[in-house]
Parts: sequence; structure tokens; C-alpha cells
Amino acid sequence: MDIKVIDGDITDVECDALVLPHWEGEEACEGALAAADKALDGAVSRLVVQGEIKGKKNEVTVIHSPPGLAAARVAVVGLGKRDEADVDGVREAAAVALRVLRGKGVRSVASAALGIGLDDITAASSAQAMAEGALLGLYTFRRHITKEAEHGDIDVLTIVADAAGDISLMEEAVRRGVVLAEAANLARDMANEPGNFMTPVDMARVAAEVARDCGLEITVIEREKIEEMGMGALLGVAQGSREAPKLIVLRYDGGGGGGVKLALVGKGVTFDSGGISIKPSNKMEEMKTDMAGGASVIAAMGAIARLGLKINVLGVVPAVENLPGGAAFKPGDVLTAMSGKTIEIITTDAEGRLILADALGYAVKEGAESVIDVATLTGACCVALGDTVTGVFTNDDALAERIAAAGKTAGERMWRMPMPPEYEEQLKSDVADLKNVGGRWGGAITAAQFLAEFVGDTPWAHLDIAGPSLAAKARGFVVKGATGVPVRTLVNLVISASD
Ligand code: BES
Ligand code: ZN
Ligand code: ZN
Repeated sequence: MDIKVIDGDITDVECDALVLPHWEGEEACEGALAAADKALDGAVSRLVVQGEIKGKKNEVTVIHSPPGLAAARVAVVGLGKRDEADVDGVREAAAVALRVLRGKGVRSVASAALGIGLDDITAASSAQAMAEGALLGLYTFRRHITKEAEHGDIDVLTIVADAAGDISLMEEAVRRGVVLAEAANLARDMANEPGNFMTPVDMARVAAEVARDCGLEITVIEREKIEEMGMGALLGVAQGSREAPKLIVLRYDGGGGGGVKLALVGKGVTFDSGGISIKPSNKMEEMKTDMAGGASVIAAMGAIARLGLKINVLGVVPAVENLPGGAAFKPGDVLTAMSGKTIEIITTDAEGRLILADALGYAVKEGAESVIDVATLTGACCVALGDTVTGVFTNDDALAERIAAAGKTAGERMWRMPMPPEYEEQLKSDVADLKNVGGRWGGAITAAQFLAEFVGDTPWAHLDIAGPSLAAKARGFVVKGATGVPVRTLVNLVISASD
């Protein structure tokens, strides 16, 4: 989709549909909607008075063949109450309005910059949110569907600036929004891909494509070298599968010399059957998305490079498949991680923390000043926070605040979780340094505490995305399936760190 910003009179713009905003509970149309209402001889304000247009969040009312306008339709989108509005609402409204219009066969859309005039919504932040909302909300994954889609695509979105909007600032903001949303959509593509199309070698291939297209350095570390490095935890998980493990390492050196400021580490289990501790078959197919953390790291690295941020960032993705079989690791086995710590396996289904133990160890060894890992780590985190909120576990208060701020900007919910030291006892083993699981309660926390054993004193945060990585239905700019969480949060965080 081509997203443009123009300066002009909205009533003159030729397109299949014009998107105009209305606030909840307000009788008067304002801005571009007022101009359209005038051209329409008051048809919009009559619908407001009659109560059809209420302006409720994400309500879309379509008026066909409006006389007096160059557009073929007008879609009035509700932004909710003015005093409750934020840029997140703009992202959602753009997504919902465009999805409704796509369903009606619309191919070209022009829109006012939604939500401008509020304290924290500038013309530029509105334009960025609209670009993100459009690309995220219209996302589909049809690679394996041979039947043609019922709807075509919207190919053009023209944002019409009002007098106060600085076109070049808005264009710059659109570009940023496009990079962010395309990165999230790449992570969605990877996670939606069936497990037989997204094996560890496929993840490495996609990472190489991203590296080539965006200007990153890539090294894919193969089994032999992984063995040499002594990554016994990662190898233990991989040994039950015919698919060879890959340790994907991406480097972005935008900082001009110096060491690694930040490492992003993502769980890349391309299918998690549970291994010998096999999962129940109900919903097991969803475990093709157990590499969503790794996908988000690869995609975020690409976006960081595309934006040319002035910072050095390392991306590390351990990619493996967790399967049962004659060669698989077993409950009771003891694995030795690269750090030298030994781990007693209680369940082979707690495999994410094992591959992360070695990947985190690698990032720390590379001298990363701080480390963030992203993983679909525990069902317990879904129990704690549900399916829209990411659990944040960290040993660093400042990092917690930066992640919260980056998540807020992205419209991705983050919630910090505690790591009470008394729970650490649950990980004590009689035969090794650690067990790979704790008891029944606080499972997301003990999983994080297990990871903490492998980062030492390095400032570190762990994002458990087991809930929000997958959506059961469309909502705002989220569509059913893989969500691309937390790609935009990660990139926002790096933007703020590089400013
Ligand atoms: N990949 C799963 C976690 C998961 C569960 C992600 C549901 C998305 C949705 C992880 O490897 C796992 O199996 N965790 C176990 C840990 C347990 C055995 C301690 C879990 O959460 O049940
Ligand atoms: Zn598992
Ligand atoms: Zn898993």
C-alpha cells in the first residue's frame, strides 16, 4: 500500500472513500468533517442528531454517493470521548475503518489526520499511527490458501493535512510508521507460517534476507560450532529433531565503534510438541508460533537498521524444534549450559528457558551492556495476565521504566512482574545446580528466575509473550493469528536509547 501525505481540500480529493473522524457525545462536526457536512448539505449532522453516528470508539458509518464531494463514499469513524483519546485510538480507528472499507471493495482511501488537536496528538504522531494502523489492520496471511480472497486490497491511503500540519514532518512520521508496521507484519508472517515451512533453517534464511535487505551483518552458527562452544542446554532440546539447530546472530553497528549497547535475544522453537513430556493434542498446532520471540527479534533488528539508528545492537536467536523420539532428551537427564551450570531436566516441555540459557550466555559473553529476551515462555504468564498483556521481568528498575514507556508508545501492553527471592528455592535440584522447572505456582516467575541465572549482573529484562503473541480474533489493529508483539515496543525502545 502506498501511503501519501498531501495538502489540500478534502472535499476535492478523488477516491473510493473518504475517512473522517467524529468525537463521541458531540453534536457539532469539526474540521474536515464539518467541511464535508457542508458539502453534503448537513447530511452528517442530521445522522448525528438522529443518533446513527454516535462517535463511539471504532464505530464506522458509511454514506454512499455523497453529492458535493469528489469521493465515492464517506466513512465517519468514531474516536470515542475527546478527553479519553490518545494516539492508540487513532491507530485503532484507522485499522478498523480501513478493514470495513476493504470489505466493501474500496481500493483508494483519503483521510483526515485523525485525532489532531488533542494535547498529545500532533499531525506527525497522528500520521505515524495511521500508517501503522493501516498496515497492521489490513494484514492477512494467505500464503497457503489457493482460493482467491473475497476482497481486493486497498492500494492507496492519502492523508490530507490540515493547515497546521507540516507535510515533511508528517511524511517522515509515515515512513517511521511504515518501517515499524512492516517489521511487525514480518514477525507475524514468520509466526503464522506452518512449522514445516518455518524450521530453524527457514528462520536462518529469513534472517539472512532481512540482513541483506536492511544492511545487517549475519552469522548463522551451526551445530558443530554450537558443540564447540559447549551450549549443552540448547543442544539437548535440539537432539530429538532431524532439524539441525541454528544459532542466528545479527549485528547492527550504527553506533560507530564501541561495544554492544543492547542485545535482543528471542526464543525460536519452531515447533514445541513438549518433547518426551509431550503436550496434550488440543491446540498443539498453535505451538508452531513458539518462535514468535525469535521472529520479533529478527524483525526488530531489520527495522532498527532501516531507521539507521545510532546505536550498536546485537540480535541472537536460538532456533530449534522440540520433538520426542529415540534421540530426544528425557526427564531426569542433566544438561550442561555454556556457562558451566548443570541443569536437571524435570520436563522436556520447559525447553524455551534451556535454549535461552545458552543464548543469553552468548549475548553476555559478547559484552552486551544490557540484554532483553523475548519468549513465548509460559502458559502460567497467560494465566496471570491473559492474552493481551506481556509480562516484564527485570533486574533493573530503569530498564523496566523504559520498556513501559516504549510499550505505551507502541500500544502494546506491558506489565512488570515481581521476582521474589524466596521463590528461587523451587529451582534447587538434588543432582544438578538447577532444575528446569519450579513448583505449580508462580510458574512465569520461576521461569524468569531460571533465566536470571544466566545473565549474571548484566541489566536484563525478560518479556514473556505467551499470551499476546497470538490473537483469537481481530481487535483494532490486531488481526486473528500472530500479532507481531513486541516488535514495535523493541524498536521504540532502541529509538529512545539512541536519541
Ligand atoms: N511454549 C510453551 C509455553 C506456551 C504455552 C506458549 C501456551 C504459548 C501458549 C513452553 O515451552 C511450555 O511448554 N511451558 C510449560 C512450562 C511448564 C512445563 C513448566 C507451560 O507453560 O506449561
Ligand atoms: Zn514447551
Ligand atoms: Zn515452548
